[in-house]
Amino acid sequence: MIIGYVIGESKPTRITALASRALSIGEYVIINSDEGKILGLVERSYVSSVALSDVRNFDEAVESKEIAEINKRDKGYTSQIMILGFLDKLQKGQSIVPAIPPLPGTEILEASKKDLEKIFGPDGNEWIRIGSLLRNPEIDAKININKIVARHVGILAMTGMGKSNLVSLLAKQIDSLNGTVIIFDYHDDYSNLAIPRINVIDAKINPRLLDAESLGEVLEIRDNASIQQRILRMAFTKQVKESKDFWMVLNDQVEEIIQLNKKDKKEYTYSGGRVQDKIDDAQHKFSDILDPDVVDPIGLIKEGRINVLNISSLSEKQANVAVSYYLQELLNDRKESIRAKNAKQTKKRSPRFGTSIFVVIEEAHVFIPKGEDTQAKYWASKIAREGRKFGLGLAVVSQRPRSLDPNILSQMGSLAIMKIVQEDDQSQITSAAESISKNLIEQLTSLNVGDAILVGQWANLPSIVHIQEVKEKTMGADQNAVTEWAVAKKFEGIAKESTQKLIQKDLLVD
Ligand SMILES: Nc1ncnc2c1ncn2[C@@H]1O[C@H](COP(=O)(O)OP(=O)(O)O)[C@@H](O)[C@H]1O
Ligand SMILES: [Mg+2]
Repeated sequence: MIIGYVIGESKPTRITALASRALSIGEYVIINSDEGKILGLVERSYVSSVALSDVRNFDEAVESKEIAEINKRDKGYTSQIMILGFLDKLQKGQSIVPAIPPLPGTEILEASKKDLEKIFGPDGNEWIRIGSLLRNPEIDAKININKIVARHVGILAMTGMGKSNLVSLLAKQIDSLNGTVIIFDYHDDYSNLAIPRINVIDAKINPRLLDAESLGEVLEIRDNASIQQRILRMAFTKQVKESKDFWMVLNDQVEEIIQLNKKDKKEYTYSGGRVQDKIDDAQHKFSDILDPDVVDPIGLIKEGRINVLNISSLSEKQANVAVSYYLQELLNDRKESIRAKNAKQTKKRSPRFGTSIFVVIEEAHVFIPKGEDTQAKYWASKIAREGRKFGLGLAVVSQRPRSLDPNILSQMGSLAIMKIVQEDDQSQITSAAESISKNLIEQLTSLNVGDAILVGQWANLPSIVHIQEVKEKTMGADQNAVTEWAVAKKFEGIAKESTQKLIQKDLLVD
């Protein structure tokens, strides 16, 4: 069915269309050019009225409205359409843009289900369904899992727009493929995800395995407490690392340093005492996290499962040390695994994971911040660069793209972007991802919860989709204060009533 014609000046990448109805942003159309059918995406849409433009007062507006209603020629529906490529090529996964711009007068047709379904919902077990096209809801939207494990994905949106929902959906789908996922769960969002064999574990750090700087961080010694840092560095000897009673021996070592410097460096007495306080804290306040007897923290992660690593009780610095430790170990393990496969000989340490791993970093701006060096950032950027060779994929999830390291963001081969209003955030995304056009970015403010723009290698084409909701979980939902209060009040009433009844009963008995 013809819904419009190409008008004005065309480019090989963009045309203007005049249509018989308002086209929706995100809708796909067919440009029926002489060279073949071309697929286009509506990026902008305008409606204008001849009678109602240039109206200067209210009475004129009332009259013009009446005229506009009876005059069939009054309304003009103009839209800008991005050219995506020849339809038959796109259906084979290739994007070829015409060399010659479509001529003005070329017909624009509605895209049929048959036209679109091969492109957005290809067959093959690496394509998993995550929802449907927002403007063509009868079409499945699928993404290619292989591409994100190999080339990473960024999931960016304001709070409450559906980032964690998408992560949950990906986790569920990967679980059904028997894949391995590790989610660093900073807000305890995922522990009640309805996945049968989900492995929820508390992240643990073995202090013996850290360097002195990281140990200082997990002990929460301030960055500018340089004497405390120095004392810890001196005390954290090989002998301490290997001692059976780690914390006690470390404490003794600090004591020895205090005594040795009692005369010359009096400040050591105070600072050493502070370090000892921190060591004491470590054994009480942080004993769940800092465990010198956990042999192998990575050993808690299970292959072929969804692993939720709870880091919600850790301070920001501790979480950073934990994430960095796990990322480093995972990358080394994957390298080992690939080497072992290639060499076909037994190594002294056999790798733990034989297959690819997908790692999700929520609140990524905390761990890979812009303009600041953290250990987690060092390892995340290494994985972003090298991970594909070793089958280690990253998902970087954040509600503050402007605070994310732009280098790492630009390494994300695919992106899901949901509603984002802040301009800083939008411009950071445009500069990191060349595949997203400025027109698409402008749509971000008008998206609803669960709507996402997908770009990059995991989809055949940029698309605007509505992501399926993972219903059987309660994470991330806004608290409903009014209902809570009402329920509390009701219970209060019931409690009062029943106490009164009891009292009355008591009276009767007496
Ligand atoms: N695709 C979706 N469709 C419908 N509702 C959704 C969708 N994604 C998320 N929601 C709703 O929005 C709420 C917040 O989603 P969440 O994924 O936790 O957001 P974020 O992680 O971005 O803060 C959820 O409780 C869920 O009910
Ligand atoms: Mg979330």
